Amino acid sequence: MTDTTPAYTGPERVFSGIQPTGSLHLGNYLGALKKFVDLQDTHDCVFCVVDLHAITMPVEKGVLADQTRQIAAAFMACGIDPAKSVMYAQSSVPAHVELAWIFNCVARMGWVERMTQFKDKAGKDSERASVGLFTYPVLQAADILAYKATHVPVGEDQKQHLELSRDIADRFNREYDVPGFFPLPEPLIKGPGARIMSLKDGTKKMSKSDPSDLSRINLVDDSDTIARKIRKATTDAGVIPETAEELKGRPEVENLVGIFAALTGRGVESILGEFAGQGFGAFKPALADVTVAHLAPITARYRDILADPAEIDRTLARGAQQANAIAAPIMDDVRRVVGFWRP
Ligand code: TYM
Repeated sequence: MTDTTPAYTGPERVFSGIQPTGSLHLGNYLGALKKFVDLQDTHDCVFCVVDLHAITMPVEKGVLADQTRQIAAAFMACGIDPAKSVMYAQSSVPAHVELAWIFNCVARMGWVERMTQFKDKAGKDSERASVGLFTYPVLQAADILAYKATHVPVGEDQKQHLELSRDIADRFNREYDVPGFFPLPEPLIKGPGARIMSLKDGTKKMSKSDPSDLSRINLVDDSDTIARKIRKATTDAGVIPETAEELKGRPEVENLVGIFAALTGRGVESILGEFAGQGFGAFKPALADVTVAHLAPITARYRDILADPAEIDRTLARGAQQANAIAAPIMDDVRRVVGFWRP
């Protein structure tokens, strides 16, 4: 994209969201949640439980509200402090839906048709997928831009959606001749946790929807389960190599070393230096220890927080008010720019 138009000069803001679909796993934690926590001390942050996105796929009757509370509890258990960051449920702020509609009329069919996540999620029978699943990334752009967010921490799988958000922001600014009105949001993807792979197949990402529970470490798994899953993780017949270069072509080993690095904050080379030449009989228990040490306090806090759902509800309600207060004046400007009738 060539950019000769004036850039956005407003304040920086971080926005990200997580769907309330199934339990969170180590990929969500390292790719997203851990980064949220790191950002909240330095940035103005808005974190959202994206329940409108969740209904783009079938949801079991009666579970959505509880799953929303669970994600909110997980946010706080990981270290999101509602006194520092805004935290709320997407459906409680109408701006998301209104801006998504406007963006549906800004985004081009061709742009949205290129999105690979729709193809993956819709599968072979895309005629039966919901229209919402198709426009999922347009709603995602609205989430971000309803707050004029400038930075978006996500895992690598969201890169394409973030590019679409930038294209939509840019096209809105040009089409309505309001240069710099919306920022072109920057994805924050880098780091060893950006793409955590399945423990059973190093070529597939760790995912909530994988039918095998052994493929992922859930944030609610207890210590024994975590150790067992790591023990059973697929590896190969080799030993731990000396250099990162030698990890290429060994996706399962690369993934386990990457998890070790992401959890400890150590470089991959330092971990290889410690374990080079050893088999997985030594490495896997060390990785299990590191994982358990990191996740056990989070799991304990999660259970405590979840024991008081009324307090979670109060926190989400406060968050919704704060989020509405940020989005409302932005939406007033959007309506004016689009040219809707106003009394
Ligand atoms: P969701 O709930 O599917 O994923 C939440 C976050 O977890 C990251 N993630 C991973 N990171 C590393 N390795 C993995 N194996 C892995 N699996 C998932 C995702 O990249 C994501 O950051 N579309 C978003 C939700 C959303 C959103 C937004 C995000 C809706 N609106 C606006 C940012 C801004 C999603 O993928 O949710």
